[in-house]
Amino acid sequence: MKFSTKSVVIIGSGIAGLYSAIKLSEKINKEILLVTKANLGESNSRYAQGGIVGVLPENLKDSVDLHVQDTVNAGAGLTDSEVARFISENSPDAIHDLIKYGVEFDKNRENKIELTLEAAHSINRILHAGGDATGKSIELALANKAEKTKNITIYQGTQAVDLLIDSDKKCRGVILYNSTTEEYETVYSSVVVIATGGIGQVYSNTTNPEIATGDGISLAYRVGAVMQDMEFVQFHPTALTIQENGSRFLISESVRGEGAQLKNPDGEFFTQNYDTRGDLAPRDVVTRAIFFEMQEKSYSHVLLDTSSIPKEKLIERFPNIIRVCKENGIDILTDSIPVSPAAHYLMGGIKISTDGKTSIQGLFAVGEASCSSLHGANRLASNSLLECVVVAGEMVKHLAEQRLEVQPTQDCQIDCLISQYEKQFFDYKPDVAGFMIKLKEIMWNNAGIVRTEKALVQALKTVNEIKLEFNQNYKCRDVHEYELRSLLTVAELIIKSAIARKESRGAHFREDYSETSQNAYHSYISKDLLCHCEEGINQTKQSI
Ligand code: FAD
Ligand code: SIN
Repeated sequence: MKFSTKSVVIIGSGIAGLYSAIKLSEKINKEILLVTKANLGESNSRYAQGGIVGVLPENLKDSVDLHVQDTVNAGAGLTDSEVARFISENSPDAIHDLIKYGVEFDKNRENKIELTLEAAHSINRILHAGGDATGKSIELALANKAEKTKNITIYQGTQAVDLLIDSDKKCRGVILYNSTTEEYETVYSSVVVIATGGIGQVYSNTTNPEIATGDGISLAYRVGAVMQDMEFVQFHPTALTIQENGSRFLISESVRGEGAQLKNPDGEFFTQNYDTRGDLAPRDVVTRAIFFEMQEKSYSHVLLDTSSIPKEKLIERFPNIIRVCKENGIDILTDSIPVSPAAHYLMGGIKISTDGKTSIQGLFAVGEASCSSLHGANRLASNSLLECVVVAGEMVKHLAEQRLEVQPTQDCQIDCLISQYEKQFFDYKPDVAGFMIKLKEIMWNNAGIVRTEKALVQALKTVNEIKLEFNQNYKCRDVHEYELRSLLTVAELIIKSAIARKESRGAHFREDYSETSQNAYHSYISKDLLCHCEEGINQTKQSI
């Protein structure tokens, strides 16, 4: 085991982690360690297509009020409107920073930033880059900037596997595992920032890449941090459907924003039968419309008909989608695209305030791993990238005012934890691949788009069985074992929270409790708090 000290450790190199590191490096003259478990650019952020919300002063028809209203409407009673206002008001600065760091947003013929529309936005306000490759453009620019920044040290291929928490419940650093050298390093730090992204890999169908295994959520939960709204998982309506299961390529909502329509394989345009807002209804509504249409008529997928979009527009706006579809034998200039829903985004996560503070001193969280109450029960498209940047910016303001001094800590709890990672292995080698398949399938079938108490209880039983057999709570053999350890925690949190919420709201749909309760309430879960649904939205404003 190696030992080191760093002022700040940031875990994750998606937009939240990279932006945090770059912005912080401008404010403090101390070493920042950025740790990422794959290569620098690999993240959910990299695959973002539609774009990022910007409520720009030059877009005269738009306003913060209108954006807040759309966000709150999508959030189905659980969006904190003050948080939404804060994020929206800060969007011009966030966009300005991204441009400053090298992101080139697409422009129209008048050389002005082009704004597009996505479902449930009442106006065009989404900036995009590279046509439909917004995430890739952002990741490339930020990774490039971070690599060139002197006081940022980057560890790639390095996974955070446990947080150091002292006897006073303060976070004092992190234990890292280098998957190439198989070495461990204990890093003592003044602050740890979790920017580890989402959890899509807990489901057998997802738009998320392989890194999205909820590691940060699991790490924070292990040390007692409070989690919020873990039952709210967003299923994107339109993932490309050409193989049975796995990570699926996304067909951006902005394709519907530009006019594409969903039809069933018999050629019937069906979304109006489920909601008058049709193809541009909020994401959860369109997802359920597709789910029920497929279930009722035993379709394996539905079709996205792009024929109403002029070919030149398709070519200009969706080069990436055209390319990937072509690689899979689909020419979207002439054919409809086979699509179906897939797990996409976690609205819940580590409970934070808008400056990234968690319930544990010294531990911060930003991005998809966190829950600021912006997205409520259903996220409005393209609000995620914006939230990552605005919350990270606010966190940096706070951190820049701290002393950020660090020394190795002598603490029995921390020493005991470190000793767990210095042990040798027994002979037992768990069947990680088999457990993964079983876990993902039960989550997709029993804790997915439509839920019931019976199915959720069965899912919890399966998760507990896998946990017992897997039986790895500390040191694991490789990245995949650590990821399974994380996914089992995430699955348990989603299921327990979904069982506790006996109503349907936003993305959480219970067939056995199909009504939405009059009182909007958040759910909280931590190691000390089994699963607790708070009555009354004002409860969220408690200080943490
Ligand atoms: P990520 O970008 O996922 O980054 C997480 C990072 O943490 C990765 O670098 C990962 O390797 C690292 N990591 C994870 N665990 C560990 C560990 N244990 N140790 C070390 N490193 C670790 N949102 C929008 O607003 N607009 C869009 O157009 C949009 N399109 C999307 C399209 C797709 C296909 C997907 C999947 C998501 C999309 N989203 C979109 C959602 C949005 O991209 C994500 O919510 C956002 O990018 C999350 O950023 P993040 O930095 O929090 O996490
Ligand atoms: C999309 O392009 O459809 C995804 C946008 C998002 O998830 O915000």
